[in-house]
Amino acid sequence: MNILILGSGGREHSLAWAVLQNPKCDRLIVAPGNAGIAQIADCAALDIENGGAVVGFAEENAIDFVIVGPEAPLASGVADRLREAGVLVFGPSAEAAQLEASKSFTKEVCDASAAPTAAYARFTEADPAKAYIREQGAPIVVKADGLAAGKGVIVAMDEQTAMEAIDDMFGGAFGGAGAEVVIEEFMEGEEASLFVLCDGEEILSIGTAQDHKRVGEGDTGPNTGGMGAYSPAPVLSAEIEARAMEDIIRPTMAEMKRRGMPFQGVLYAGLMIKDGQPRLVEYNVRFGDPECQVLMMRLGAQAMDLMHAAAEGRLGETQVNWADDHAITVVMAAYGYPGSYEKGTIINGLYDIPEDSRNMVFHAGTKTVDGQTTASGGRVLNVTARGDTLQQARDRAYAMVDGIDWPGGFYRRDIGWRAL
Ligand code: AMP
Ligand code: GLY
Repeated sequence: MNILILGSGGREHSLAWAVLQNPKCDRLIVAPGNAGIAQIADCAALDIENGGAVVGFAEENAIDFVIVGPEAPLASGVADRLREAGVLVFGPSAEAAQLEASKSFTKEVCDASAAPTAAYARFTEADPAKAYIREQGAPIVVKADGLAAGKGVIVAMDEQTAMEAIDDMFGGAFGGAGAEVVIEEFMEGEEASLFVLCDGEEILSIGTAQDHKRVGEGDTGPNTGGMGAYSPAPVLSAEIEARAMEDIIRPTMAEMKRRGMPFQGVLYAGLMIKDGQPRLVEYNVRFGDPECQVLMMRLGAQAMDLMHAAAEGRLGETQVNWADDHAITVVMAAYGYPGSYEKGTIINGLYDIPEDSRNMVFHAGTKTVDGQTTASGGRVLNVTARGDTLQQARDRAYAMVDGIDWPGGFYRRDIGWRAL
């Protein structure tokens, strides 16, 4: 098959790496890709949020199967345009992508399916929102309804912070995404993520993971897109996973079908676990980044078969062949991230690292300039390893990190601490 992956991050590098191991793949193009992806696949410049452009590109290049990495093209209907044009695609419709693109939509679906989640209220004006906050008290969580690149959630530990978040959101700090605000009960517990594939009908769990959102060691400092992740997540025991499936995932998928918007693709459920009970924090309609990197490291070539089966509605015939293994990824980021950071710093030592099915450096934000690998983003490298235990995987990952010579970068030394 000729396969097209849309996206340019570490997530898409790991997807490309897994797909290429599968003999079904004859040719792989990643659009737009990055310097690391360019070492293993063809990269092409393409406006991936423009459905017409993506369909045209797929037709010109005789693409048989498209895998959509990020949420923005899904929310803008790229998977719909491809399906209308008869191109097989892994990823939900724009309607189904509302599970990520609209917090209030997700809350409605949870209400309709009785899925356990935080109590909430919705507002389109500041005054009633503030009155609600005063009534509920802190801690409380304020969320912009729409997509805000992961920045639209304020977990306010005091009332003042919550009030400021309301002013920011209705003041336009998040553009259209903040025109409606969801205010939620603060949930205590330990967070973990469950990833399932859906083909509109069947549901298949493909693994659990936990990430580290804060920039600093000991989970301190500002939030980031994720400074590292590991799989499996020990807190999501088989029993809690089964409960999340029965109480949250299955009812959601049934409700989506009932609404005439069956979900096809990967559903990433952020869960809060307390006293053995999972509650939904949020859904995403794509793989997490960097969670995808650890899932791909564990699934390898079968990831391609699973995504293909989901796209073709054959999940009922498939299963995951699990190795009893662990994977971890350590994010290396440019100094200053998640604030402002320098671009163009040179990274050395990457090519001395032996890469194989247990050790991979996925590129998130790199660019080749004059034959040298340079940093072109905030999160730049995802140093990923697999082992029989989490400790072994972690030792392997940090041994690779130690071999990378990048004075312009930093990383956390404690990825996985909660599980170890
Ligand atoms: P979200 O984008 O909805 O995942 O929110 C980002 C992060 O904010 C989550 O990963 C949680 O750490 C935190 N968060 C969101 N909603 C809640 C909640 N109701 N209670 C506690 N923490 C939350
Ligand atoms: N790592 C969090 C996310 O991809 O949303």
